[in-house]
Amino acid sequence: MIKAIKGTKDLLPDDVKNWKYLEHNVRNIFRDFNYKEIRTPIFEETLLFERSIGEATDIVGKEMYTFTDRGGTSLTLKPEMTASVVRAFIEHSLGNLQSLNKLFYISPMFRQERPQAGRLRQFHQFGAEALGSASPFLDAEMIQIAFHILKKLGLNDLTVKINSLGVPASRELYKEKLKSFLSDKKELLSEDSRKRFDTNILRIFDSKVDADQHLLKGAPILLEHIDDESRNDFDIVMKALAKAGIPFELDPKLVRGLDYYTKTTFEIVSGKVGSQSALCGGGRYDLLVEELGGKPTPGVGFAAGIERILLACENEKSFTLPDDFLDLFIVKLDKELSSVIFDTASYFRKEGFTVDFDYLDRSVKAQMREANKCNAKFVLFIGGDEHKSGYCNLKKMSNGDQLQVPVAQMDQILQALNTPDLLQNDRSLY
Ligand code: HAM
Repeated sequence: MIKAIKGTKDLLPDDVKNWKYLEHNVRNIFRDFNYKEIRTPIFEETLLFERSIGEATDIVGKEMYTFTDRGGTSLTLKPEMTASVVRAFIEHSLGNLQSLNKLFYISPMFRQERPQAGRLRQFHQFGAEALGSASPFLDAEMIQIAFHILKKLGLNDLTVKINSLGVPASRELYKEKLKSFLSDKKELLSEDSRKRFDTNILRIFDSKVDADQHLLKGAPILLEHIDDESRNDFDIVMKALAKAGIPFELDPKLVRGLDYYTKTTFEIVSGKVGSQSALCGGGRYDLLVEELGGKPTPGVGFAAGIERILLACENEKSFTLPDDFLDLFIVKLDKELSSVIFDTASYFRKEGFTVDFDYLDRSVKAQMREANKCNAKFVLFIGGDEHKSGYCNLKKMSNGDQLQVPVAQMDQILQALNTPDLLQNDRSLY
């Protein structure tokens, strides 16, 4: 039997319900903050990701789904969105149309990581990129949006971690300091960290190996070595968050796994999803547009992992959705009435109601079972002697009340269906 590829997941109808609820909230909150949706292709030229995320990162070094197409071009399934959004921003000169572009997205991403709970090879992110302003209040806005969405989904066990990486010049000086601090300990580091020592030394802070963390004790702290402007902006971000009532922790080891960051970086982690605890991450990237060939344009953004968030929601039991329902189920009492039932269903659907009926010529009892399973508010019986004398019968399922209605006056049924207590389920949720 052919099965789904390792690290990918089918979303069955019960899952999709939760996804739609999440997406609905994401879209609403981005609208509140005046972000416009952007959609980019699933694949891009490999060079785009190499140049933006950085060749020495895990993503580019070992996780990308890269292939050569029949024309000989190296293509990559997007592992993240920031690079694609910036590419589109430059390609369509969005900066000329608007001085600040606030964009959001919901999209699948691909990384060939070792699958585990909360870590997939095709996963989904929602996120935002704001291009055109260096204001630290925009950094605070990003954190505010991410936090707000997670709270809206009912999550409580959250920690917002923030740090500043400063500008490249101050970071390079810091890297030298870290290098000399670690140089006599290099041989004691894990193999991965030894590699990072030469290629991407800041990432040693991300090591999960206890011995590495032990060796890092007493290391110089990046935040104490950043430039004055970055420090000043960082103070503004912290003040803005405090004023907005968003609790946060300073995490001097938060270095992030992508190379394009400058100044503020952040993550929001959950205590309820095991080792893959980062629900979202982001930060400022003031040099990326220029690096990809655009005019110098500051940028800031974040992305959040939908699977991880929904796992946290499940583990926290953070929301429950109302059961699906049907306004009307039509029970067919005579097989030969299929055409009448079909037309009747069409009539009510045109009027805006959710309607279904039996396509399997099942017994009346089985049809009623189906109506109950679909959580039908009303059942309409059509057939038998009643139909021959021009009537049908409407039953309200909540209390068993029945109403005989002339077939020629279906509008009476419309009235019954329109009684306010029928549509308790809030469809605006979806
Ligand atoms: P990232 O930290 O690589 O950042 O990913 C953001 C989020 O995507 C993670 O916090 C996690 O929830 C989710 N995620 C990442 N990899 C996986 C995976 N294999 N399986 C499931 N979920 C995953 C970025 O992607 C940046 N583009 C964020 C950003 C936007 N920075 C500025 N703008």
